[in-house]
Amino acid sequence: MTTITVGPISFETGFPSIAQLEGDHAEPATLLASLDQKQREVVRELLDSTGAVHFRGFGIRTIDLFETAAHSLLGELAPYRGGDAPRRAERGFVYNAAGPDKSKLLRAHNELSYAPWHPKALCFACGRPADEGGATTIIDGHRVYTSLPRAVRDAFRTLGVAYIQHLPHAAGDPSGIKSWPETFETDDADEVMRICQESYTSAKWTPLGLLTRNVTPGTLEVGSDNRIAWFNQAHIWRKDPSVMPHVSDMGVWETRFGYGATYGDGTEITTEDIDLVSKTLIDCTVEVTWDAGDLLLVDNRAAMHGRTPFSGERQVFVAFA
Ligand SMILES: [Fe+2]
Repeated sequence: MTTITVGPISFETGFPSIAQLEGDHAEPATLLASLDQKQREVVRELLDSTGAVHFRGFGIRTIDLFETAAHSLLGELAPYRGGDAPRRAERGFVYNAAGPDKSKLLRAHNELSYAPWHPKALCFACGRPADEGGATTIIDGHRVYTSLPRAVRDAFRTLGVAYIQHLPHAAGDPSGIKSWPETFETDDADEVMRICQESYTSAKWTPLGLLTRNVTPGTLEVGSDNRIAWFNQAHIWRKDPSVMPHVSDMGVWETRFGYGATYGDGTEITTEDIDLVSKTLIDCTVEVTWDAGDLLLVDNRAAMHGRTPFSGERQVFVAFA
């Protein structure tokens, strides 16, 4: 563990790395919006080498302060286009990070790893912590990769993952699945098909909705040292064969909504493989607990994120870049 102090901020390496103020400051939030070149360099290097930086006690409690800080730290913010999670835009490209059901663990994932595009970095901040629970979980993707048996990690690395989704035309399906207009943040069907044909492996309209298949890498080379990191959410999208056999047969999907995952060549991901992945992810999980005003940067390629169950009115903002 190394500590670097630049002006009023000290940085300690770790997972996550910790940034804290030295001494008292009347308006700590303004410090994040006006980092000098040396401080920016340290943040960038820590994010690159460790995958996550937790800023403690910087007073980022409101959407205004969060939007300014996220923009200052990450540059241009991006929409959540193509995402599967029910998510409300608070303003512009600032979203809430509540998750669908606060009583359940939100399993860790790389944001939009199933889509043809994904954000490089995520910025979270806490307006109000939960009464109980509600930690953001983070997982070092390189640690996951090196912890898995060689046969499993090689299969994901060489074959990649195929993600299948069948999205309804209209919101409100009892299964809770988002419609394609919600997913793509537009109801322009031509525009959505143009995006899909340009970017997805395959896409078609069905009588029920939009059916897409997308093959992406299961691992990525990340950081300036090109370490290999786990990068997928097959453990969340994959269907157990006892629940849904023939998951790689696209015809089977035409009559049902939902999400599925196979290896990139269409072969089934076995229950044994997915159980090993799920166990390894649990073993590698680190919980980041929130105080109001904290901010967390996550390198979306190098680290996964999730959320523990909680009670109360937790308010956590998220932005993508
Ligand atoms: Fe997420």
